[in-house]
Amino acid sequence: MIPVMRPLLGEEEALAAAEAVRSGWVAQGPRVREFEEAFAASVGARHGVAVSSCTTGLHLAVHLLGVGPGDEVVVPSLSFIATANAVRYTGATPVFADVDAATGNLTAATVEPVLTARTRAVMVVHQAGVPADVEALKALCEPRGIPVIEDAACAAGSTYQGKPVGTNAVLAAWSFHPRKLLTTGEGGMVTTDDADWAVRLKRLREHGMSVSAADRHHGGSAVIEQYLETAFNYRMTDIQAAVGLVQLSKLDAIIARRRELAARYHELLAGVPGVTAVRDPEYGTTNYQSFWVWLPGEAPDRQEILAGLAERGVSARRGIMASHLEPAYEGHPGAPLPVTEAFTARTLILPLFHDMTNDDQDTVVSALSETLHTPHLTVRG
Ligand SMILES: Cc1ncc(COP(=O)(O)O)c(C=O)c1O
Repeated sequence: MIPVMRPLLGEEEALAAAEAVRSGWVAQGPRVREFEEAFAASVGARHGVAVSSCTTGLHLAVHLLGVGPGDEVVVPSLSFIATANAVRYTGATPVFADVDAATGNLTAATVEPVLTARTRAVMVVHQAGVPADVEALKALCEPRGIPVIEDAACAAGSTYQGKPVGTNAVLAAWSFHPRKLLTTGEGGMVTTDDADWAVRLKRLREHGMSVSAADRHHGGSAVIEQYLETAFNYRMTDIQAAVGLVQLSKLDAIIARRRELAARYHELLAGVPGVTAVRDPEYGTTNYQSFWVWLPGEAPDRQEILAGLAERGVSARRGIMASHLEPAYEGHPGAPLPVTEAFTARTLILPLFHDMTNDDQDTVVSALSETLHTPHLTVRG
């Protein structure tokens, strides 16, 4: 079976993790600090705050802004459900805005109609690594005093206006889940240019402590910490950070390979009528975290297509989910989301991973072509 994704993990990561274990310091410590600095530098941010996942990072970002009950935060429904859930954790209401069909992202035009007097933030997702037009959103939101938070879970190494996604972000949250390009098993990061926010985020991820456990341990004199506010345990471990540092050193090569494979997919898919694949928007480049395709309008049911691909040895995935269609959001009020609903129903994610071969890609494309162009009953065998 050709998998949809396979993380690029090798001996170097195993050794780095083992060294962290042998050092005797496995909780958040020097390796986390080193990883924070290296990752923040790689995305052009002044500060990085490592956390246990992107979900917890997004939660900290909205919490930091003082978002709470009675407030609204605009998010895309077309995203992994964690985007919307992070808003709910604060007691605020996620307000779903529709997306652009080409990028899968919020735009100023889709966000403007859902802004209200209660909007406290807009959380824009760089969906599947495709950069969103953040400056256009900031031009809409900042004059109204609404900060734009970037859910950059999938976007490490994508670029926007010639710079890494995340440069100049007010607050951006990143994921290191194995489905992403750079993995620490589980893990995440919040980046910001604001030094005071970075200090507070570090406190919020560690129980509200005035001095971190690592600093207390490594400092010479006995320091008694205070707990300055009710906070969370969202820490990353030094074992994860050790793996992350090795992964970060491979990121450029991972992106180059994914873009090479994506270019080859574009060539091959040109021969499959009606299929449109994800591409760079004119203002940036994607890291192709996921390679999604729009299916032709007359295509068989998506479940049938997934089954047809599986029969041919290809593990694909449904397109990006629409959070508002999940039971957890049943009855959640909101405006119609026609592009989101079409996007989730009519897109598929095809396999793309670093050591994918030309043969693998040929198999994927011919399986897709056969499945799309074979009558329904034949697909089922
Ligand atoms: C857009 C988006 N936001 C948030 C998340 C959550 O990331 P994590 O698994 O690190 O919590 C994901 C994960 O898939 C995602 O795709």
